[in-house]
Amino acid sequence: MNFEPLSPSIGAEVQNLDLSQPVNDTTFSAVRDGFHRYQILLFRGQTLTEDQHIAFSRRFGELEIHPAKQYLMPGHPELLVLSNELKADGSRVSIADGGIDWHSDLSFVREPSLGSLLYAVRVPEDPNVFQDTEWASMYHAYETLPESMKRRLEGLRAVHVFDQDQNPRLPPVDGKYRDKHSADLKARTPPVSHPLVRTHPVTRRKVLYVSIRFTIGIENLPKAAGDALLDELFEHQARLGGSYRHRWRKGDLMMWDNRCTNHRAVGSVVPQPHIRRMQRTTVKGDAPF
Ligand code: SIN
Repeated sequence: MNFEPLSPSIGAEVQNLDLSQPVNDTTFSAVRDGFHRYQILLFRGQTLTEDQHIAFSRRFGELEIHPAKQYLMPGHPELLVLSNELKADGSRVSIADGGIDWHSDLSFVREPSLGSLLYAVRVPEDPNVFQDTEWASMYHAYETLPESMKRRLEGLRAVHVFDQDQNPRLPPVDGKYRDKHSADLKARTPPVSHPLVRTHPVTRRKVLYVSIRFTIGIENLPKAAGDALLDELFEHQARLGGSYRHRWRKGDLMMWDNRCTNHRAVGSVVPQPHIRRMQRTTVKGDAPF
């Protein structure tokens, strides 16, 4: 097994590792070290059953069952399906607009995700159809803030929420794809707050922990002041842009650290008749500090 960097700043491809086979402790420990070093890891050419995807993910910790229950794979609730497929009646098989805005998975829960493992089951064959994902390092986002801004952020907590209707910054996706949350889902995912700057529990580096998708305000600041501060931070993130953009191939498994990266699906929902079907496990994390 070896690591081949994907970009100068972030990401590595892990070569010569078949994840359908048991991974011994020594190899696993090297993979975990690489995960902390590179922030995102790519495993190409995998052929995984649902159980194998889940089993490898579990090596990193307990798995989340995503609160949007209607998008979980029947019989495998650890797997969130992200797909633009349609049923015969025209309704969606699963979430198609899940990741279009920059975010860190499950930052809207009290103990947000440690990491996600996204597996490409089916991707469009036409190279002109956008189906990429990109990642940005939130270590870099923090480290490139002016010192005066770093001081302003000390001790502040940001409010994160899942319900898109509570986030006026999000534009409609193709006018129709934004997901409406049921009253039950809203009740199970109330707003939570986390430090605006968190410390990664393993590397001890500081991270700018906000995203345009889930962060809607700053605790204990008047709304206008909180919104103005968030605007500045989102502009900073947008200026930096992505650090690595991935064009998926069937059989790719990408794993990323939600504690120090943001990511997004680039562009919009893949248009029919092209099909993009992904499945994701999400590893539980700890309360940010
Ligand atoms: C995600 O946000 O977890 C998925 C991103 C993608 O579908 O590219």
